[in-house]
Amino acid sequence: MKLTNYIDGVWQGEAARYTAVLNPANGEELAQVPLSTEEEVGQAVVAAKKAQKKWALVPAPKRADYLYEIGRMMKDKKEHLARVLTKEMGKVIEEARGEVQEGIDMAFYMAGEGRRLFGETVPSELQDKFAMSVRAPIGVVGLITPWNFPIAIATWKSFPAIVAGNTFIWKPATETPLMAYEMALIFEEAGLPHGVANIVFGSGSDVGTALIEHPDVRVISFTGSTETGRHVAELGGRHLKKVSLEMGGKNAVIVLEDADIELAVEGILWSAFGTAGQRCTACSRVIVHQDVKEELQKRLIESMKDLTMGDGLDETVKVGPVINEKALEKIQSYIKIGKEEGANLVAGGNVLNEGKFASGQYFEPTLFVDVAWDSRLAQEEIFGPVVSLITISSLDEAIEVNNSVAYGLSSSIFSQDVNKVFRAQRDLDTGIVYINAGTTGAEIHLPFGGTKGTGNGHRDSGVAALDVFTEWKSIYIDYSGKLQRAQIDTE
Ligand code: UN1
Repeated sequence: MKLTNYIDGVWQGEAARYTAVLNPANGEELAQVPLSTEEEVGQAVVAAKKAQKKWALVPAPKRADYLYEIGRMMKDKKEHLARVLTKEMGKVIEEARGEVQEGIDMAFYMAGEGRRLFGETVPSELQDKFAMSVRAPIGVVGLITPWNFPIAIATWKSFPAIVAGNTFIWKPATETPLMAYEMALIFEEAGLPHGVANIVFGSGSDVGTALIEHPDVRVISFTGSTETGRHVAELGGRHLKKVSLEMGGKNAVIVLEDADIELAVEGILWSAFGTAGQRCTACSRVIVHQDVKEELQKRLIESMKDLTMGDGLDETVKVGPVINEKALEKIQSYIKIGKEEGANLVAGGNVLNEGKFASGQYFEPTLFVDVAWDSRLAQEEIFGPVVSLITISSLDEAIEVNNSVAYGLSSSIFSQDVNKVFRAQRDLDTGIVYINAGTTGAEIHLPFGGTKGTGNGHRDSGVAALDVFTEWKSIYIDYSGKLQRAQIDTE
């Protein structure tokens, strides 16, 4: 199947260049995705700009009605969407269903915002004067989304954008365009007015850059690597764009001496090896108290043996493939680095490429222990199923180690001691903190994002997402019939 761009409600013609979309579980070609150019981005912006003028005038509760319809359709198609997601991205089917559900939740939640979109009314300092603020749409927005959560992250961005009265151009990752194609079918069937949702496929360097540089695209919302995000911010800054970034992570689970170890093992396995470790929120460090280190290590190694690997469509499989060969190479390079740095490899560490694994991209769940907190293995994002165990001797040390990385997305602590837990939630410097749960599991009605190298102060999800896609407009209505000067005529 050859995909085409979706611009102004119309599926476009053949592209000049394509690249293949491969199933990471078995190498099967799923589709050909266009590698579009600046020209197609320009066409999409023209359509989006024209549509936005009308869309902004549609009352927000009416805009929200489309989201209710989109959510309902996603619900009807949930199993189909999940299966396509597993095929193109590789995550196991149960997790794919969870991700589609996250998108459905976002649709209904943001649809509710259509009847809120709260501003403020405040008293004026003058008589017979009224003061309020409202959220105003910004215009045309550009959405650049990653392959690891191809549907959920797209909904975190596109749904608040449209409920707030913007129109968008979405550039999905070239590895996972089928999810965008499926969403375009839904937008079309839901009757979303033409030009509100536009999809342009292609590379970051061509389509992404063209979006960022286009003068009529006022906001860029990006999720991806810190390296690319820095470039997006630099380029966007030059054009005075509002740029919302959600980037890397080096997330840790802290296990204190009084933790429920069995629960901690479950939390670590789920958040480290779910989505084959390719979540921004994945646990890639375990910071464990010396008194329980041996026990935790033993139980982790034991439980890792049950992580059946294979094609994610097989319901018995727990860990699917990683996205592509480049990812495999990066993970392998960190195994080498870890060994050279003197970390102790106690489980996994290998590419699987024989038998049923021959034509896919599989990497074994891997555990290093006795890892130095400041080593590259413990500091850099690997984006694969690799965990480093670091031993500490106090809560203070655990927090210090947790906060020592360049990133700040998610952290977790397992402990039964309420005093320690409360101190930890205050002092851990990440945007998300879990108590007695792993580092993954964000819900869509709270802000999602992180500090330091993970973000630039904006958030996806929750009401906070509306801050990205709206401008505050303050309105003063003077009904005194005379000139009243603020700060002066107040007596
Ligand atoms: C991501 O890894 O980029 O909390 C998104 C979670 C998911 C979303 C992750 N709900 O892990």
